[in-house]
Amino acid sequence: MNVDATTARAAAAPQGRPVSGKGAAAGAGVPPLLETRGLTIRFGGHVAVNAVSCAFRPGELTCIVGPNGAGKTTYFNLISGQLPPTAGQILLDGEDVTRLPVSQKTRRGIGRAFQLTSLFPNLSVLENVRLAVQARQQRGVDLFSMWTSHRDVRAQAQACLERVALADKRHLPVASLPHGDQRKLEVGILLALQPRIFMFDEPTAGMSVDEVPVILDLIQEIRQDRSKTVLLVEHKMDVVRSLADRIIVLHNGTLMADGNPAEVIASPIVQQAYLGTMESDTEASHG
Ligand SMILES: Nc1ncnc2c1ncn2[C@@H]1O[C@H](COP(=O)(O)OP(=O)(O)OP(=O)(O)O)[C@@H](O)[C@H]1O
Ligand SMILES: [Mg+2]
Repeated sequence: MNVDATTARAAAAPQGRPVSGKGAAAGAGVPPLLETRGLTIRFGGHVAVNAVSCAFRPGELTCIVGPNGAGKTTYFNLISGQLPPTAGQILLDGEDVTRLPVSQKTRRGIGRAFQLTSLFPNLSVLENVRLAVQARQQRGVDLFSMWTSHRDVRAQAQACLERVALADKRHLPVASLPHGDQRKLEVGILLALQPRIFMFDEPTAGMSVDEVPVILDLIQEIRQDRSKTVLLVEHKMDVVRSLADRIIVLHNGTLMADGNPAEVIASPIVQQAYLGTMESDTEASHG
């Protein structure tokens, strides 16, 4: 189905109102913590993210939905600095951070769950989280502070592991963890970095049914902190419905809809073209 953004917004709007973010956000009225302006990336002739302008406020959990290949992960990669945009800007607290490397963005509070491939597979679960705590603290190297911080860092790492239900596996090497535990560890490391913006990309994909609530409860807990902004890419519509303050819809790299969940989910064209399709896609691809 070929629907451009203008058509989708107009057709999707109840009583002729466009489906837009205005007034939809839980943090409405607060200045944005993160903003993308005309954010674009081209791979050869393919525009994977196409002029996406969106502002994200503290105290707001935004679900990013859209069919496979819509550009959701690429949008995250641009924000976190894993990919350089072809055009557009990324603003953090109103400051242009578009070209900063991942490490700088992480330091400034943009928290993207690390891919396990970038961790230390032969170190223990606890050591990996401990390194994340240390990276955040960037302690000096004098022996006294190293000694006093050692227990503190370890305690903080342990607390992060407890929050993702991995404390009893803290001594295992990361490489030995089953997939679901690895996903939980990604979230544990994200917690250790204490970001201001939490970016979750399908955080429960590949988890068993009993592991999913641990992560969803944790995301609920994070959103209670009104100073944090949460961006969540999620295919499962029941999760989206239960968590989102706001939903944005990407399709072919373009922002198709942006509004409160009721508006976006109820909008007929979005429902028919994207959300309905996604649910059946999800069943097919994630079992
Ligand atoms: N490094 C890359 N080089 C070339 N093309 C890329 C690259 N990364 C992403 N793409 C393309 O950009 C488009 C968007 O991909 P992306 O992974 O962002 O989609 P997605 O919305 O996250 O999909 P899914 O729901 O399947 O995870 C796809 O067509 C993909 O093939
Ligand atoms: Mg993706």
